[in-house]
Amino acid sequence: MSPQSPFASTSTPTVAARPRVFSGIQPSGELHIGNYLGAVRTWRQQIEENKEDTLFCVVDAHAITVPYEAAELRRRIDGFAIDLIACGVDPDKTTLFVQSDVREHTELAWYLSSVTPMGDLHRMTQFKEKGEGKDFVSSALFTYPVLMSADILLYKATVVPVGEDQIQHLELARETSRRFNHRFGEVFPEPKPRLSTTPRVMGLDGDSKMSKSKGNTISLFEPEESFWGKLRTAYTDPQRLQLSDPGRPEICNIYTMHKAVSPKTTQDEVVANCTGAAWGCVDCKKVLFENFNRELIPLRRKREALSLPQVREALGDGAAKARRIAQATMKEVRERMGLGSLASSTVG
Ligand code: TRP
Repeated sequence: MSPQSPFASTSTPTVAARPRVFSGIQPSGELHIGNYLGAVRTWRQQIEENKEDTLFCVVDAHAITVPYEAAELRRRIDGFAIDLIACGVDPDKTTLFVQSDVREHTELAWYLSSVTPMGDLHRMTQFKEKGEGKDFVSSALFTYPVLMSADILLYKATVVPVGEDQIQHLELARETSRRFNHRFGEVFPEPKPRLSTTPRVMGLDGDSKMSKSKGNTISLFEPEESFWGKLRTAYTDPQRLQLSDPGRPEICNIYTMHKAVSPKTTQDEVVANCTGAAWGCVDCKKVLFENFNRELIPLRRKREALSLPQVREALGDGAAKARRIAQATMKEVRERMGLGSLASSTVG
């Protein structure tokens, strides 16, 4: 271990502390192929490489910032947890948990809001987008980025895998870490974003990000028939009206997906047969469908073998692991901020 390592630990001098990774996913709708290719599949790779400590969180407290039904949210939390585990976010190898099981998230969010300027929150584009034209805009939607900062800083995470749309929130978290440390002393590291290397999969309508709220998704575990039904009618190159028109793979969402799931030789074939007008779009989609199936069949099998009680138990264990880190951080935070009675029954 290098003596200069910022993560140097006095208790285990022979082992350098590993980078700590935290990421969260909102349990909205069902896990779709955009979530899988853009985020969840890379989580699995990071877990398997085992070079970092990883925590992955179903952020249910973020999901209540817009109107919702309680019973529906409960189903989605269960469903997301099952899907994530089926995708290889293995609770035996990582810390997988539900945000509201670890109350320290909401506690830290309140404390961090005291060092977060309102002006910064007003500048968040996601707030503007999600709040625009709505009858009811909750104050939680406004302070959402503070909770996200708390998620990350609570675990002193140094690496945060996110999509491009979350960069602004992450920048705020970095700023919040600096502000807190400046005011109360060095507690938090500055978390760095890790952008997904998979090109962004667009919605099936071709003109926006794949997102449940836009109704342009294919669920990852959609039955094969409807998976194909949606893929078959997905938007492609609008200039390609007839089979004889050469297509432009570089602007086509189907090609983006090929790049994510098909072997390199198939990708090359797609380019040749699309630009050479040898394949129609449906031919190209059929090949894509086969490659999706190859990747998804083992995940589907795994999902069928999982039971809800077993999954809930794994989440409980995950929360217990997360809580140990969270409690240690909060003890430090309360001390630094001068909070609490320091009665022996409350310390810890
Ligand atoms: N806001 C993120 C999104 O909508 C989800 C999220 C919440 C998150 N807390 C996080 C992501 C902490 C990374 C780290 O995608």
